[in-house]
Amino acid sequence: MTDTRTTTTAAPAHFIGLMSGTSLDGVDGVLVASADGRVLAEAYLPFPNELRETLMVLQAPSENELHREALAANALVRIYAECVHKLLATAGLSAADVTAIGAHGQTIRHRPGEFDGIGYTRQLNAPALLAELTGIDVVADIRSRDVAAGGQGAPLVPAYHQAMFSSDGETRVVCNLGGISNVTILPAASLGQPVYGFDCGPGNALLDGWAARHIGQSYDDGGTWAATGRVDDALLGALLSEPYFRQTPPKSTGRDLFHAAWLDTHLASFPKVSPVDVQTTLVALTAQCVAHDVLRYAPDCKGFYACGGGTRNQTLMQAIAARLPGVTVATTEALGVPPHQVEARAFAWLAERCVARQPGNLPSVTGAKGPRILGAIYPR
Ligand SMILES: Nc1ncnc2c1ncn2[C@@H]1O[C@H](COP(=O)(O)OP(=O)(O)O)[C@@H](O)[C@H]1O
Ligand SMILES: [Mg+2]
Repeated sequence: MTDTRTTTTAAPAHFIGLMSGTSLDGVDGVLVASADGRVLAEAYLPFPNELRETLMVLQAPSENELHREALAANALVRIYAECVHKLLATAGLSAADVTAIGAHGQTIRHRPGEFDGIGYTRQLNAPALLAELTGIDVVADIRSRDVAAGGQGAPLVPAYHQAMFSSDGETRVVCNLGGISNVTILPAASLGQPVYGFDCGPGNALLDGWAARHIGQSYDDGGTWAATGRVDDALLGALLSEPYFRQTPPKSTGRDLFHAAWLDTHLASFPKVSPVDVQTTLVALTAQCVAHDVLRYAPDCKGFYACGGGTRNQTLMQAIAARLPGVTVATTEALGVPPHQVEARAFAWLAERCVARQPGNLPSVTGAKGPRILGAIYPR
């Protein structure tokens, strides 16, 4: 009899991370080799205007929203699938080579801890359709389990930040400047202190909305428009009176709070501030919230590393640096990860944790009762 046993070596595992955040700009994707965390491909697909507008409307209650949410989810996932196919083509891999996709979906409501004490967080998504369109297992609904365990369900990226960016000898802060800004405080590992992380407040969301209204662009490219204005201190003071900024962590927020109407309510008392000065003041608001939280929660911070699209706003980066004297202010590029890849890589990492049945949340960050395995798997 011949020996039919064959020696097999396990095929190298790959994971895809897909992130579309509160900026509602589009989806960032990465394809990662699990063994060493190398990115084999990256892709970005902007949302068509129609989808962006639908997603914006779905941030608040409206007529027949279940129906419109479901159709928007299908439309979103068609773009996710296109992103996946682009990643596979770039990396020269096939669906069979990818263990799972971590698909964040699009947050349309975020109300953890409210109402019945548990509340909810909703990411519009169609993971079954994504599995169907790609032939790859999909990990979705990544925030809900943390919320079910009494947590904020956000931010979830700090666990990945800790794995990638923490230092033995110095306390660092990683800050994502997306639609909302969030910080991860990584105490020097030698201190043995827990990691903290929370949403500071607005990132680009208000800046983008104001730029769209007054210069007709989806964002203020490089922050060049804001660079020509002046901060209105009285308006800044009024914006900073928002109670969210004084809440102690764990805390998280979204467009539920920081939306155009929030800004308009404040602006009603400042009719004379010019559009460009409002934009400059909004830059100061984002910078002030972030810097204040760093100084309060990480007074020994030596290095501040930003990621997300807001890093391209030079005026914002300079405004942050000006408020953090003595701290090295840079992007995560300085630590080896391009700023636009961080969030998508974090969701690839979270998908890997889910598949391996390992927890993905940090209870010290979210306030959950304990570590939890995050996400639901939709098999290929
Ligand atoms: N060249 C640029 N100049 C200024 N801001 C930019 C630039 N490119 C991107 N951004 C900002 O980054 C945002 C997208 O960042 P992203 O990290 O994808 O956020 P999110 O995770 O919320 O989707 C855009 O909406 C815009 O505000
Ligand atoms: Mg984005």
